[in-house]
Amino acid sequence: MLRKVLKWTGGILGGIIGAVLIFYFVMRIVVNNKRDKTYTVEVRMLSIPSDSASVAEGAHIYAIKGCGDCHGKDLSGKIFVNDPMVGVISGTNLTSGKGGRPAGYSDKDWLMALRHGLRPTGKPLLIMPSYEYYKMSDHDVAHLVAYLKSVPPVDHAVEEPSIGPMGTILSGLGKLPLIPAEMIDHSHQAAQTVEKTATAEYGKYLSMSCSGCHTPSMKGGDSPIPGGVPVRDISAAGNLGKWSLGEFQVVMRTGKTPDGRQLKNEDMPWEMTRQYTDMEIEALYRYLKTL
Ligand code: HEC
Ligand code: HEC
Repeated sequence: MLRKVLKWTGGILGGIIGAVLIFYFVMRIVVNNKRDKTYTVEVRMLSIPSDSASVAEGAHIYAIKGCGDCHGKDLSGKIFVNDPMVGVISGTNLTSGKGGRPAGYSDKDWLMALRHGLRPTGKPLLIMPSYEYYKMSDHDVAHLVAYLKSVPPVDHAVEEPSIGPMGTILSGLGKLPLIPAEMIDHSHQAAQTVEKTATAEYGKYLSMSCSGCHTPSMKGGDSPIPGGVPVRDISAAGNLGKWSLGEFQVVMRTGKTPDGRQLKNEDMPWEMTRQYTDMEIEALYRYLKTL
């Protein structure tokens, strides 16, 4: 009897393991094919300024877009996920130092990365959230690139991204935005400039940086980061509907909520939102209140 049961459960277990393995290998083929695809896109060239005021404006954009969370404050790159199951996910050293961007990295190459999520070769970048950047105005992208080009070289070799079995399965299922190029409308014509005033309209533009986690409707949901805490509703239907501008400002600058919770920067990146100006926070507040 016992032997029969064991044989039976063994058979089921074997079946399950077999099915999981087949599923994994199918996902791996699907994901590898997507990684191998070469895109042909038309890159609309922009003229990149180099004066110090433009560079400073670009530095502010780098700060409020949270680029430093993945590429480091000095742009020298860093590993931000290192998990045997999910994989090694590392932001490139963007400087011209050793281990950094290749010699001859051109204005076109910067635009390929930021607006299309692609390498200079046309192959897709992994994880780099260009789907949040491709609608940035020409003005903002040009100023951002001005800053990126101005940063002094740092020698720092960063391990290249590699995706583990769980990372492969999650991206195969569409639960991990592995290949941003797939989420981009490559013919999108971004605005030349946007008016930077404390209006809901400008808030909507800024909220692109929140949409990757809070979703485009700002209603939140599951974390885009495997194992991350649920993302809250920041439309007027959530707590924000009850908060004053001053209270919202404190949340954005310190992660402390009016009801006494301390949000962790790893969950809700307030080290990033801390760097928004008062005007930018007000614009976001006005926009979120309309939802
Ligand atoms: C969530 C993490 C993350 C954020 C935020 C992020 N990046 Fe990246 N970025 C990456 C990763 C990972 C790569 C390397 C991808 C690869 O090699 O496949 C990358 C690659 C790049 C590249 C391409 C370098 C090359 O070798 O062609 C550029 C340029 C870049 N990022 C700029 C930026 C800028 C500017 C910002 C902010 C506007 C930003 N990144 C924000 C993760 C991020
Ligand atoms: C990397 C993902 C991520 C990004 C990007 C992000 N958030 Fe969040 N945010 C979260 C998570 C997760 C929580 C919930 C944290 C918790 O409950 O501990 C949160 C919570 C909040 C809260 C508190 C809501 C409440 O009811 O307590 C506010 C306000 C907020 N986010 C605003 C923003 C704004 C505005 C942006 C864009 C400028 C933004 N977030 C970008 C992940 C993110």
